Amino acid sequence: GERADGRPLKQRLLVVANRLPVSAVRRGEDSWSLEISAGGLVSALLGVKEFEARWIGWAGVNVPDEIGQKALTKALAEKRCIPVFLDEDIVHQYYNGYCNNILWPLFHYLGLPQEDRLATTRSFQSQFAAYIKANEMFADVVNKHYKDGDVVWCHDYHLMFLPKCLKDHNKGMKVGWFLHTPFPSSEIHRTLPSRSDLLHAVLAADLVGFHTYDYARHFVSACTRILGLEGTPEGVENQEKLTRVAAFPIGIDSDRFMRALENPQVQEHIKELKETFAGRKVMLGVDRLDMIKGIPQKILAFEKFLEENPEWRDKVVLLQIAVPTRTDVPEYQKLTSQVHEIVGRINGRFGTLTTVPIQHLDRSLDFLQLCALYAVTDVALVTSLRDGMNLVSYEFVACQDSKKGVLILSEFAGAAQSLGAGAILVNPWNITEVANSIARALNMSPQEREKRHRHNFKHVTTHTAQEWAETFVSELNVTVVEAELRIKQ
Ligand code: G6P
Repeated sequence: GERADGRPLKQRLLVVANRLPVSAVRRGEDSWSLEISAGGLVSALLGVKEFEARWIGWAGVNVPDEIGQKALTKALAEKRCIPVFLDEDIVHQYYNGYCNNILWPLFHYLGLPQEDRLATTRSFQSQFAAYIKANEMFADVVNKHYKDGDVVWCHDYHLMFLPKCLKDHNKGMKVGWFLHTPFPSSEIHRTLPSRSDLLHAVLAADLVGFHTYDYARHFVSACTRILGLEGTPEGVENQEKLTRVAAFPIGIDSDRFMRALENPQVQEHIKELKETFAGRKVMLGVDRLDMIKGIPQKILAFEKFLEENPEWRDKVVLLQIAVPTRTDVPEYQKLTSQVHEIVGRINGRFGTLTTVPIQHLDRSLDFLQLCALYAVTDVALVTSLRDGMNLVSYEFVACQDSKKGVLILSEFAGAAQSLGAGAILVNPWNITEVANSIARALNMSPQEREKRHRHNFKHVTTHTAQEWAETFVSELNVTVVEAELRIKQ
């Protein structure tokens, strides 16, 4: 729809993220199929509906030929997506290298991979150059599709240079930037050779958002300590310009999950799962196979629980869904074999001829399967060593209104700040504590489960992705108006 003056009824929003909500799989020279991408960012962005939104990002494949690019652009247009084409070398240096081997572990307090430390330090400059180049390529696509009055919302650690690229080109553009990971203590950020360039580039945005107040505070102290700028309750003062900094905790589209539970196919799945696991309690982990998720720690804690509670051995199963991710990065390959080894050892130790205590899958499930699994789960285990928010915990809660299962949640996930009162919070490094929490969750009285669930369910169904996006965008609009007023004064 349009207004009488031709402007659209809904505000136009350009959402720019490294990964599009759909990933492309090539079926022929000019034919593509599209699949929903994995990860918290996508899970939240799918819930954003109030805007006339376009998505700009990478479709997850290398498309060197023009025929392929044209066909993919057309297929994506139907999903309101606009591709940024990155060649293999850029993907290697920018995505595998700078983003996932340097920024990602650093922002999650994991440091650089030990053996790679020297090699990484040496290739740092070329990877950083590729990072800037990739950000410029995203900026080119944004500039091509931008119309006056649009809001441009940049996402995540892949695109910290984008606000600067966009503002250098067009000062009047409304630009917001949101980080989906933690922002670490300034003492960690300052170890990055490009620490100042990154901060300056982000500060070019009008509004900068984080999941929690702590991440926002860390960002502001990095700007004051490393750049010597002034931090105020509103944000960071930078040469007469104020960059607003604030916390906007993300959520999910909870209705989508609750609607799915009424789908006959899901009910069928639920029935099958109940039959398969009759007589056993179901514990569930759903994670991208990433070192920040603490999967080995989770499995070792489960082993300790089995060790200490022999009466539970044939009455419980842990289903671990580990979605493959960033499989070209060596650290992720190492993690895969490490997890397989631990799972094999524990199943060998506690399995019987007919059952194993851990069922581990190296793949994603389709949405309806996943909803069914969430619904039949008795205890969900989220043991992230660090996690920006963790929306798996939200998705689980949304699907538990009849079962009222227990959520065990790492205190190092952003979600601990919103679901802390309903979940059992744990330090994932403390295997004994996690093992005891598993016992506590399995033995919890229905009254206590009900009370805890009610708290979390209320939060998840009221703090939705939709509300998150509306709050961020309206704050961005207000910020820009206030800045204009300040200049006029
Ligand atoms: C996290 C990041 C997202 C990313 C997702 C999946 O949630 O914050 O930006 O898209 O992981 O990772 P991938 O590298 O596959 O995009």
